[in-house]
Amino acid sequence: MVWRASVLTIFPEMFPGPLGSSLAGKALASGLWSLEISDIRDFASDKHRSVDDTPAGGGAGMVMKPDVLARAIDATASDTRPRLLLSPRGLPLTQARVEALCGGPGAILVCGRFEGIDERVIAARSLEEVSIGDYVLSGGEIAAMALIDACVRLLPGVMGAPHSAAEESFAEGLLEYPQYTRPQLWEGRPIPEILLSGDHAKIAAWRRAAAERLTRERRPDLWTAFLQRFRGGSRDT
Ligand code: ADE
Repeated sequence: MVWRASVLTIFPEMFPGPLGSSLAGKALASGLWSLEISDIRDFASDKHRSVDDTPAGGGAGMVMKPDVLARAIDATASDTRPRLLLSPRGLPLTQARVEALCGGPGAILVCGRFEGIDERVIAARSLEEVSIGDYVLSGGEIAAMALIDACVRLLPGVMGAPHSAAEESFAEGLLEYPQYTRPQLWEGRPIPEILLSGDHAKIAAWRRAAAERLTRERRPDLWTAFLQRFRGGSRDT
């Protein structure tokens, strides 16, 4: 069974969007994963196909109706896939979570819109809220695409070189080291000499040191976690 993504949205025309190009698109076309889009509006019950209503208690904006969204969820294949609601209120998505999702059967992704969705449907359908970062998008669609892209590229057969996913940022808890390619001298800037030395041990040590320095400078949070994980200490240097 291939990895299956089911997306529930009021903007079905946004999909596959970028997921139809590049690595994810090729893998989709060759059947390494599947994408099913469900239009929440198809489950409205009035002639205007309403999916939202005014917030209880007053205030600006609109709230997605629980009955319509629940019908859309219930019409999606009931299986063991996690049901995720993309929301800035959710637990932050991490590479570890992406790896876990990628190793499972797929995901059912509910895209929120408006000022939010009725809280009761989150509990009644066990939706787990997931955020892709501390900023607010206009809806969950782009977040769902980001999550799917991050999972799909880890599926066996999707990436060209099988080791390249494991070597890069976050897999080990470090940011990626700098890369260079020809020309050797560009706008007065040379490629670091060691990378042209052919000495693979020295090159690996240089890359490792560069990755550690970048992580320490840019992401002290990751650096502290890295030190704790790999050195069993909490030195902050
Ligand atoms: N919807 C709106 N903002 C979001 C975010 N940061 N992450 C996930 N879903 C969202």
